[in-house]
Amino acid sequence: MTSFILNERLISTGERPGLTVLEFVRDVSCLSGTKEACREGECGACTVLVGSPQPDGSVAYRACASCLLPLGDVEGCHVVTVEGLAGAALTLVQKLIVEHSASQCGFCTPGIVLSLTGFCLGAKKISFEGAVDALDGNICRCTGYVSIRNAARALCASLAKMDLPPAKRLAELVNSGVVPGYFKEIPARLSQFKAEPAGTGSDAVLVAGGTDLFVQKPEQLLEGELCFLSKRRDLDYVKLDGEFLRVGGAVTIEDFRQSPPVRQYFPALEKDFLLHSSAILRNKATLAGNVVNASPIGDATIILLALDARLVISGNGARREVPLSKFYLGYKKTDLACGELVSEIVIPLLPKGARYHFEKVSNRTTLDIAAVNSALRVTTAPDGTVTDLRISAGGVAAVPVLLALESFKGRKLDAPAVEALAKAAEAEARPIDDIRGSAAYKKLLLGRLVGAHFAAAAGEAV
Ligand SMILES: Cc1cc2nc3c(=O)[nH]c(=O)nc-3n(C[C@H](O)[C@H](O)[C@H](O)COP(=O)(O)OP(=O)(O)OC[C@H]3O[C@@H](n4cnc5c(N)ncnc54)[C@H](O)[C@@H]3O)c2cc1C
Ligand code: FES
Ligand code: FES
Repeated sequence: MTSFILNERLISTGERPGLTVLEFVRDVSCLSGTKEACREGECGACTVLVGSPQPDGSVAYRACASCLLPLGDVEGCHVVTVEGLAGAALTLVQKLIVEHSASQCGFCTPGIVLSLTGFCLGAKKISFEGAVDALDGNICRCTGYVSIRNAARALCASLAKMDLPPAKRLAELVNSGVVPGYFKEIPARLSQFKAEPAGTGSDAVLVAGGTDLFVQKPEQLLEGELCFLSKRRDLDYVKLDGEFLRVGGAVTIEDFRQSPPVRQYFPALEKDFLLHSSAILRNKATLAGNVVNASPIGDATIILLALDARLVISGNGARREVPLSKFYLGYKKTDLACGELVSEIVIPLLPKGARYHFEKVSNRTTLDIAAVNSALRVTTAPDGTVTDLRISAGGVAAVPVLLALESFKGRKLDAPAVEALAKAAEAEARPIDDIRGSAAYKKLLLGRLVGAHFAAAAGEAV
């Protein structure tokens, strides 16, 4: 049985844990406000809110794509569809959408309403820029984004005086008409649920965010046994430990991006990770899932490779550490045995004199996989001599690559040296022709990205 609260209603259902929440709300619960379009996380029409109980008794709400969200994952949570916002009057977000003519055919509108409501509930700070970022996964094909943004701007202006942290904001959001009054009872109602184990069977498929799995094989997952990493609270942390950041295997990309240690020690990552998919996916997709997924162009993987990250791998009664640079054995093949999982990612802080930079080229700025991506970590002595150089590259081989550029250590990276470095990177690349570009184009692109690292590095120093 899977138990959760759907809007105001307690649900206990024997439907399979691999059924998507989208199918459950539309086909089983007959709530048709949640729209179905791409079923691949690309459009945001299916956005719902998922509220998860927190150790401090509050409920943390996140907007998620319900087409990639398995029912088993919302066990013990509060799921909100647009019907769950309906009361005697429109909510503040709905009212502003009407006032700013931000809806025409209305197909995308429930998703937009839920993304903006999720922003009000969960954003650390209410700002127009943050509201726009929260909408980066919601595509509208007829209204035009200017009026949607105008509604978002008016929303932020209405809530400008609210400076409470998300965990303490609920009463004020009820008073402002952002969410209906019954939300106030949800924390107490969820606290009655018994915590369920993450899943047990050794053959169970490990589901982290599910944002790759539920695109690749939804039918297989409907039948199989699943183990949900989101239930492993012990793996949900980002903490500083001496000269390292330790990131639990269940941490989502959005929580990582916004965590205080990342903001303090790697401020550039907050912006770089905005280029990963969209808010409704980043709210579920995990850093470890991106690494294990083993895509040759995974954005987190490419960044972590340059930063010299290590993986802590646990399972089968043992625990071992593997440098990320040694983890990939071939196309989609990793050094992970059956029964093992990535329980932690360890990221060294930037050494003194080090700079970091990330570049990604894709057809669209957001919501698109890279054609080629690359990250740089370079350390120089006070006289400008390179003491350490790590440049990673995605989309140029069967696996994410760390380029072999040893010969540039001990040199000063003046313009001719950077040009030689770009040529050396191009020579090492072994891309293939595919839908994202020809091999020749990708080779050239990598050379340009290496140049861009150094052109931008002065302004990006961290
Ligand atoms: C619309 C869309 C846009 C996307 N855009 C981007 C993008 O811009 N950049 C990008 O890099 N990716 C992108 N992706 C791909 C995907 O979202 C990411 O790779 C994501 O980080 C995967 O994480 P997840 O937690 O959802 O993995 P899941 O789908 O849950 O799992 C992926 C695989 O890893 C395994 N796994 C997960 N966690 C662990 C663990 N801790 N230990 C062992 N095995 C584990 C799972 O069993 C599964 O085999 C996009 C996907 C979609 C659908
Ligand atoms: S239906 Fe398009 S994101 Fe889910
Ligand atoms: S209002 Fe028609 S798709 Fe947005």
